[in-house]
Amino acid sequence: MSNHNIKHEQWSSRLTYMLAATGAAVGLGNIWKFPYIMGENGGGAFVLVYLGCILLIGIPVMMSEVLIGKVGRQAPARSARLVAAQSGGSKHWSVVGWFGSVAGFLILSFYVVIAGWALAYTFYGFSGDFTDKSPAQIGNIFSTLNQSGGQLMAWSGVIIFATTVIVGLGVKAGLERAVNWMMPALFVLLLVMVGYAASTGDMGSAMSFMFNADFSKLSWNGVLVALGHSFFTLSLASGIMTMYGAYLPEKTSLVKTSLWIAIMDTVVALLAGIAIYPIVFANGLEPGAGPGLIFQTLPIAFGSMPGGQFFGGLFFLMLVVAALTSALALIESSVAWLVENRGFKRMQAAVVSGFSIWLLSLLTVFSISGESWTVVTLFATDMSLFDILDFTTSNVMLPLGGLMTAVFVGYVVNTEISKRAIDSTAAIYRLWWLCVRYVAPIAIVLVFLQLSGIVSF
Ligand code: PFF
Ligand code: NA
Repeated sequence: MSNHNIKHEQWSSRLTYMLAATGAAVGLGNIWKFPYIMGENGGGAFVLVYLGCILLIGIPVMMSEVLIGKVGRQAPARSARLVAAQSGGSKHWSVVGWFGSVAGFLILSFYVVIAGWALAYTFYGFSGDFTDKSPAQIGNIFSTLNQSGGQLMAWSGVIIFATTVIVGLGVKAGLERAVNWMMPALFVLLLVMVGYAASTGDMGSAMSFMFNADFSKLSWNGVLVALGHSFFTLSLASGIMTMYGAYLPEKTSLVKTSLWIAIMDTVVALLAGIAIYPIVFANGLEPGAGPGLIFQTLPIAFGSMPGGQFFGGLFFLMLVVAALTSALALIESSVAWLVENRGFKRMQAAVVSGFSIWLLSLLTVFSISGESWTVVTLFATDMSLFDILDFTTSNVMLPLGGLMTAVFVGYVVNTEISKRAIDSTAAIYRLWWLCVRYVAPIAIVLVFLQLSGIVSF
């Protein structure tokens, strides 16, 4: 069991670290998931709670995860164990590391299927399938794709294959170069979409939907969804930030980089909402349409705007790239685990992980294509296996992982260690410390208790 290759390797520069971490954060969560869960949970109040979660829980927990990696300089479970040992804590704190890897693995199994949708839409877009189509016809494209389990398998198969090969070969350089221009380009295209939505859509209704906080529309379950999504979107509680922190150059400020990643991620999510909702309202579509929302709205815009064929294809292509950079981060922790703990070669580990992801992804594929065996009755409601996976990871495992991290770093880790790693002003350290010790754990526990019916506000 050697980890020399891990201890010594560091990001070549602060910029590469930021790009990789931003690449892991910005993905389907921002452009696909955030807009539709906002729609399902009533808009403004949800957005406000979400922003609060990012600021008071997400950012402090992200700093904690990077801290564990920066001090431990190894894969998540070992880093946590090492940091615990240095602080005189139990070796079982390694749970903070491996729990996330399990969550990441489960997330990846449905993430690839959604990325497969985006890949299919790249082809539809470039081949002009959206041109001059009515909203109903656009809706048909989506349902036709989803009726075919074979198609879904094929598209997600390509994504899994690409992820496996890239991680197996470790061709980071090529990917980093692609991300270098694709991320900014995605950002610019989002701005173009916002401009289009402003000129042809119903921007007024969209703005009041997103930014008028009407708390009567937000249930406690919606609060949990906002909390869970703040972890999902920042790639927290999945081992990633610890993994990346392990490669962080000594002099790089953990505070500034964490803030930067969170701000970029939030801006992209809000822009996606501002690009999509004017189209939703102008065309009488349902904000609560669910996971299909962006695939049923954006193509309407591309179908009628000048150059829409090109820009439509390009937009979904960039969504695929954004999803790939996140998928790579997601699979990395299981690959690293197999290499370090089971003596696998990197490519073998990638193939084994990729194949397992493929098997697991079939649950989501057949849930979407409507196979009846995928429907399970839980707590007296019918849920598909996809819903269950999504719910358990985002709304149970991620908040629980975040809670464990906050408790670990806030109560177990020596303050000298955390002060040295955070390396910032006394006021900022204090603020972070208050968040991980009190705000985050109390908020997470209260939301869980409220939902389990033990307390009620
Ligand atoms: N943060 C990614 C997104 O918003 O799409 C999803 C994700 C990536 C979650 C990587 C967890 C992770 F480890
Ligand atoms: Na994100």
